[in-house]
Amino acid sequence: MKNLLIISNWKLNGNKYLINSFISKISHIIKSCNFSIVIAPPLLYLDYMQQIIKSYKCDNYISLSAQNIDIHNYGSFTGEISAKMLKDIGIQYAIIGHADRKIFHKENNNTILKKFTLLKSEGIFPILCIGETKKEYQNNQTIAICIKQIDNIVKNLGILALQDTIIAYEPIWAIGNKIVINSTYIQKIHNAIRNYLMQINYKISKNISIQYGGSVNFNNVLNLLKQPDIDGVLIGKASLDTENFIKILNVINNNLYSF
Ligand code: 13P
Repeated sequence: MKNLLIISNWKLNGNKYLINSFISKISHIIKSCNFSIVIAPPLLYLDYMQQIIKSYKCDNYISLSAQNIDIHNYGSFTGEISAKMLKDIGIQYAIIGHADRKIFHKENNNTILKKFTLLKSEGIFPILCIGETKKEYQNNQTIAICIKQIDNIVKNLGILALQDTIIAYEPIWAIGNKIVINSTYIQKIHNAIRNYLMQINYKISKNISIQYGGSVNFNNVLNLLKQPDIDGVLIGKASLDTENFIKILNVINNNLYSF
């Protein structure tokens, strides 16, 4: 049985009302789930969500993630938050390199490397998003692009930097679309990533969690998780609807032995 990780990325959605109802409704089911759950609400609500999770005695079952950090730890950078601040309030994960940040905030390999380095120095688990554009996909460049994005970390910080790191493969063209996910194709990409890492460090390649994200929903989640190299899913839209998210958690929990 795999060590599954299910991540819910709320992006720029949610409010105090949703946080309360979401946590109260999932609080019963998550206590019987035999896998890890991470929620990434908007930064503003991290501390609030943490308090609500504690009030439902769910802090042993849900971890929280930031959706982004700044490339600095402190200073004159109005509007930013740092890895150090996340550590200060007890946040364990942070998403970096998300496609939304690359598209709307022009993030590149250089900024992602800086953010990765800061997270590691604070002992926060980076959820490192990688993935290709539609054009790169059509040109058959997916594997080369993914490896280049991972190499950005490995060549600068060494392979051991990938310990306690989560890789999230999110093809940019598959995010937020009602597309039909071909889980065999996604498995091929995940397998290529793992094989690449295996050539450098066998242990890291075996232990690293490689997530898939992009239009994951109740209908496709099982087929994805049945693939040997898909260790979990990073869910956007489908995780915002509480009833739907509960359905997803239930179907995963009921089929754990088939993964
Ligand atoms: P969707 O599940 O809405 O496609 O979002 C995926 C994603 O970007 C998660 O980080």
